[in-house]
Amino acid sequence: MFDLHTHILPAIDDGAHDSDESLAMLKLAVKSGTTDLVATPHVIEGVWLPAWEEIVAKTNHLAELAGQHGLTINIYPGAEVAMGMDILAKLRSPGPYCLNGGKYLLVELPSREIPAYAEEFFFTLQARGITPVLAHPERHPLLCGQPELLYGWLDKGLLLQVNAGGLTGQMGKKVMANAEMLLNANMVHVIGSDAHGAASRRPLLETAVKKMTVMAGSEQTEKISKKNPAKILASCDVETDKYLPIKSKKKSILNHFLTKVLG
Ligand SMILES: [Fe+2]
Repeated sequence: MFDLHTHILPAIDDGAHDSDESLAMLKLAVKSGTTDLVATPHVIEGVWLPAWEEIVAKTNHLAELAGQHGLTINIYPGAEVAMGMDILAKLRSPGPYCLNGGKYLLVELPSREIPAYAEEFFFTLQARGITPVLAHPERHPLLCGQPELLYGWLDKGLLLQVNAGGLTGQMGKKVMANAEMLLNANMVHVIGSDAHGAASRRPLLETAVKKMTVMAGSEQTEKISKKNPAKILASCDVETDKYLPIKSKKKSILNHFLTKVLG
């Protein structure tokens, strides 16, 4: 399984505090079946703005540490870039801050609003050859209530990354309902743990992948948890399925059962 969203690098954002915690997170990830993991520290203008070279150096160091401890896992550099027009000055072409230094960029919206410049932001990136991957849309309080916005972004080639904990209910019932709705509508392209530590918000995908398998089938789950992220890390094009219109989600008996059993 591929984890495309983690705050695993030590002392660079609000994720792992030090190398010991990074290592503990890696051990958890390997134990839960993760084979490939991207370090995506926050890049937020005016808050956290690590140099790309620092992210790459810390990722390489963590990979060495993993090897020294006999952990079999591939670790790649990346970032979770907060939407803002100023940050575009640092995103001139595929490469820096993109996932594995390629052409896909993990982007998060402001937590409580959808800026009027969102479309301009996305399409400036695309004009520069960078494909945005929107982080955890299920957590946004406004986005899932405005499916026409999502349709427009998906039509223009954006990809969506849903959090494992969102799908399993760790972020609350509303977020879980949003995640289920997106999955049912063929709008989930990759998943990530969005892990921030070894004690809470941990790098675990297993339960979410089990739930996804029951909800969407093994072929779709394979695509979301392995094939699509492998293509993203190789900067290859991801073939997306036609999305379905979003229906208002009344909790199904199946989902209720899955939450009880897996959640
Ligand atoms: Fe994150």
